Amino acid sequence: MRNLCTRTTSRRAVGVLAAGLLCTTGLAAPALAAPATAPAAPAVADGLALTPPMGFNNWNSTHCRPEFNESMVKGIADLFVEKGLKDAGYQYVNLDDCWALPTRDADGKLVPDPARFPDGIKAVADYVHARGLKLGIYTSAGTRTCDVAGFPGALGHEYSDARQFADWGVDYLKYDNCNNQGVDAKLRYTTMRDALRATGRPIVYSICEWGENEPWKWAPGVGQLWRTTGDISDNWGSMLSLLKKNLPLAPYAGPGHWNDPDMLEVGNGGMTDTEYRSHFSMWSVMAAPLLIGSDLRKASAATLEILHNKEVIAVDQDPLGKQGTVLSSEGGRWVVAKEMRDGSRAVALFNETGSARRMSTTATAVGLPEASAYTLRDLWQHQSYNTAGTISAMVPAHGTVLVRVSTDQHWAQHPPAVELGLDGSPLVARGGAASFTSTATDLGRTPARQVSVSLSGPAGWTVRAASASTVGALGTGSSLNTSWKVTVPQGTATGSYELTPSVLYRSPTGTPAQSRVPVTVTVVVPPPAGVSYLSDLPWVSAANGYGPVERDTSNGENGAGDGHPITIGGVTYPKGLGAHAPSDISYYTGGACSKLTADVGVDDEKGDKGTVAFEVWADGTKVASTGVLTNAMPARPLTADITGARVIRLVVTDGGDGIDSDHADWADAKLSC
Ligand code: GLA
Repeated sequence: MRNLCTRTTSRRAVGVLAAGLLCTTGLAAPALAAPATAPAAPAVADGLALTPPMGFNNWNSTHCRPEFNESMVKGIADLFVEKGLKDAGYQYVNLDDCWALPTRDADGKLVPDPARFPDGIKAVADYVHARGLKLGIYTSAGTRTCDVAGFPGALGHEYSDARQFADWGVDYLKYDNCNNQGVDAKLRYTTMRDALRATGRPIVYSICEWGENEPWKWAPGVGQLWRTTGDISDNWGSMLSLLKKNLPLAPYAGPGHWNDPDMLEVGNGGMTDTEYRSHFSMWSVMAAPLLIGSDLRKASAATLEILHNKEVIAVDQDPLGKQGTVLSSEGGRWVVAKEMRDGSRAVALFNETGSARRMSTTATAVGLPEASAYTLRDLWQHQSYNTAGTISAMVPAHGTVLVRVSTDQHWAQHPPAVELGLDGSPLVARGGAASFTSTATDLGRTPARQVSVSLSGPAGWTVRAASASTVGALGTGSSLNTSWKVTVPQGTATGSYELTPSVLYRSPTGTPAQSRVPVTVTVVVPPPAGVSYLSDLPWVSAANGYGPVERDTSNGENGAGDGHPITIGGVTYPKGLGAHAPSDISYYTGGACSKLTADVGVDDEKGDKGTVAFEVWADGTKVASTGVLTNAMPARPLTADITGARVIRLVVTDGGDGIDSDHADWADAKLSC
């Protein structure tokens, strides 16, 4: 059959490449091939995926590369056993795209690629089964699979392919959406469900149509899980955008029918461990499938520790099967609560923002009954505390505090929870002194005794308490505030550093307890007097729609240094900043500058595409803006009065029409100080 669909990538969100399809029209849909004498479908394969499936899938770590092969799959199965991951609940070892040869055999059967799977799929299934694990496989509800190489899809071959999978001993099928020839999704996915049932083998059925046809509305009873989003990639922006799409779908999830925001990226290297802990915490609080997407043969200790956290896994695998719901999300501070079968609540305090934030809720707000005190278990610290009802913490940038709160009568056995906060500007001047205030608050029903707060900074920095940092006891709801003077040595390089407040205290029975929260501060220097190019100065932060912001070139969309000479309306500029909407670049001006000038516009490199708007902000006030500029326009001169501002921001928005081709140049951008 001629393949009239080609795989495309479409841009959906910051840094996210999502799989899409571009099909020409006019192709007759192939008939769906239920055999003339279809075996009567047995009763619904009950009891499948009563909790979200856990396991491994190779796609995120290997894509179609040759290292995806029999030896990898067997190696993962071995590691599941050796590293205790099987005991922690991981069960399915799943093959993704590219396991087959591009053509079927003379009988229309699928043929495993002999270079990757020389012993066939049955041998791999036997190996996996011998270790008490299960095997998953992949194909597409289309004429070909999704990879550009295009392996055979099952559209029109459902019954024979399902039979082959069952004969091999397959326990799980991921059924993708590429090259679907425009055939109705419900029909395509239901036909394969019936074909799987007809085999008589219990096979977990994972629907992968990327949320395009709102499967949460029709797929319960068809598959046990359905993708709600496009593909994840190994970066913060991608993970965040999938999380936000999946969170509102909580009412549709339950035992045997789960929302699937795609597989895990934990350990693949594109996020920090703090971000991976957030990824794992939020997938668990959403009762999402936990399919490890990194090559465990190369996993770091930190990766294994995250994937192995049994207390977090227990949140995901809770038999009540509720997906957590959003209680609040103001300013990127997300409170998500999940009801558990034992009546407790798992509560995620997830900080989307780039700086540490205090986040707070209460036991009754998350759905627990009124009580004089509760037990609060921190699922990453593995510590229990008592609280009089407040659930509150300072959460690091991009971090998640995940707790489980219950009304158990043993709360008094645990020390009181003491919340620690640090206030002060996150920007500290090199060679200068900065002031911070730490706050330690007893959230518990019992007093915290012998309370002692300290603050540590990087080597060479001076940290001095300017007021009392100890107190004999703190009662419920009372706080110890301490002022701190922090001096940053002259020679310190600009950039991010950590300040860490900690508190040590004792419960009424003398049990010692402590907590600490790393807070990121940025060391800054004011620009030199006179006129400087912005591209020659260090920025404080630079968020960009695609790739990094470039100095003295346009934005190349991917890695650093992949841009071209800045060119607007045929004029080339040697200096400037190359951004891509949405973009937000901040500079420390320290009250010492008066004016910013630039020639702004859409770079010529995108032909006639791209519409953006430029803005300059001085300490929270918009002081200049261009309105929407298109690629057809010449550079627009822009001047902003920034007199006295401590921080300025250069912002580019998408002009109201999405971020496609929005290559935004701040040409010849200069600062007068
Ligand atoms: C699609 C799916 C991915 C992966 C690839 C394989 O993009 O959404 O999860 O299976 O196809 O080609």
